[in-house]
Amino acid sequence: MSREAVGSQGAEWLRLRVAARGLPYRLRLHSRVVSTQDLVARAARNSTSEGLVVIADEQTAGRGRLGRSWVAPAGTSVMFSVLWRPTAPDPTLALAAGLAVAEGIEAATGLTISLKWPNDCLVGGRKVAGLLVETVGVPGSPSAGVAVGVGCNVAWAGIPKAERPGPNATALDLEGWDGMPAKLLLELLERLEARYRQWLATGFEGLLDHWVQRLSWMGREVELHLPDRVVQGRLLGVRTDGRLQLEVGDQVMLVAAGDLGGSGGGSLRLRDGHLDDPGPAI
Ligand code: BTN
Repeated sequence: MSREAVGSQGAEWLRLRVAARGLPYRLRLHSRVVSTQDLVARAARNSTSEGLVVIADEQTAGRGRLGRSWVAPAGTSVMFSVLWRPTAPDPTLALAAGLAVAEGIEAATGLTISLKWPNDCLVGGRKVAGLLVETVGVPGSPSAGVAVGVGCNVAWAGIPKAERPGPNATALDLEGWDGMPAKLLLELLERLEARYRQWLATGFEGLLDHWVQRLSWMGREVELHLPDRVVQGRLLGVRTDGRLQLEVGDQVMLVAAGDLGGSGGGSLRLRDGHLDDPGPAI
């Protein structure tokens, strides 16, 4: 297994295509960082304009949702963060980004990707990619922005089975895709740009139907893990404000944050995460 997922050649290939497609990104590739989210947060504080993309072949303390770590040995995962500066970010931006990532993976690989609320991407019911969307900079000031972090498992075949996560996670190569990570990244960036522009223009309302069409376990009994309890109910859908609708007994419960279906497993090794000065996840 190569220790580079994207690598400098891949980044060069990507730069040319990003320019050819007129995508408004500035790419920075690092072989090893603590977390791409931190670099984007720092750039946001330094008044960098939106469109910065920080890509890493390896992270030493990558972060996931709900305080988890995102751990992926070098070369196994496509990992990057994008800086956006919407004037009024809200939690639905994270869902819009998840939709874009699902579409990008599908466009690059031909695999069918579904969404697990709020923004996990699944193939065959297993998590293949996750997003962490955090506010960065000082809210209400010119430094305010959003860091959209994406981790997609691409190459696990070289990892011994015993060291892979449980049955709830997978990687693109295990699903039969052996394409170029840079090509995947190009499709992801293109879809992210398209869905971000649409979200700015219409809000999440304009994306909701596309989102719900990909929603896993629609109408089925699910388990929702909240910080203090586990709730069981029937999944009714998602509202325009991004909240999950769950039928629990004869009540409809609206949920802003939680973990659906149990494991949340996605990267190679989950352990309790230490949050190193993150803005709130949205
Ligand atoms: C999750 O599924 O919990 C979200 C995982 C997000 C991981 C990505 S990898 C690139 C970016 N940098 C980070 O530290 N996290 C995100």
